[in-house]
Amino acid sequence: MKLQGKIEYLDDHQQLFENASFAAKVRSDIQDGAVYVVKKVFTQAQCSSFVEYLKCVGRSSLPNYQPIERGTGNFHRINRWDERSYVKACFHQFVFYPWNEDLFSLFELARPVFRAKNLISGNGPDRFHGRDGEDGCVMRLAFQFYPRGIGGMNLHRDPVDFHQLTVPTLTLSRKGVDFHEGGAFVQMDSGERIWTDEISDVGDVVYFNASMPHGVEIIDPHAADDWLSFEGRWMLLFAINKLAGTSQVADAQDLGGANGD
Ligand SMILES: [Fe+2]
Repeated sequence: MKLQGKIEYLDDHQQLFENASFAAKVRSDIQDGAVYVVKKVFTQAQCSSFVEYLKCVGRSSLPNYQPIERGTGNFHRINRWDERSYVKACFHQFVFYPWNEDLFSLFELARPVFRAKNLISGNGPDRFHGRDGEDGCVMRLAFQFYPRGIGGMNLHRDPVDFHQLTVPTLTLSRKGVDFHEGGAFVQMDSGERIWTDEISDVGDVVYFNASMPHGVEIIDPHAADDWLSFEGRWMLLFAINKLAGTSQVADAQDLGGANGD
């Protein structure tokens, strides 16, 4: 991956959508390890509306896991380093599927990001966008909250296959304001890390090669954990996942602790 460490900024997605050779260059750069940041895809007001709504949901209803199956309701769950997970992690997750209605019409708002994800992954822009999924895969929006003192995710690689080269992430918290230590990173072969919260602002979307090792270093590790305060780090993942009962996409690969231990 000869472009590891390279960070490119785009003002918006337009050139990606309108210029096939530019899209091919972005795809090739990301295959080679570059990280792209698209600025201001969502407004700060939208981002804080999402987060404030999810805090209310998270505080006032029971978290419960649901499998990725056609027709599953939107839900939220907590994961405290659950040994059953493919990738060990500690977070509060809020999941949305395109077959459900929601207050924000999230999949309409997210459409440009899923289109960009498809183009970067070498697919037609609207592949997998059906409300009931397509080719055994479905779009899934997963907001993740990593609480101060305990939230994190082990170093891992995500499956890169026909369905995706990149798993875009929306930055929803400010490092240095909402939290101070830790956060999401992409790790290069040298062991150096690109801290995605440090190269993006709230509302920006980050694209990187999902097969590069990445994770979330514990957020403010010396803070006392308090899940219900919702102090820590928020993000949104734009995922395309295989539906239960299909087998053509591999699972993510845990590479051990975020520190590599
Ligand atoms: Fe990942």
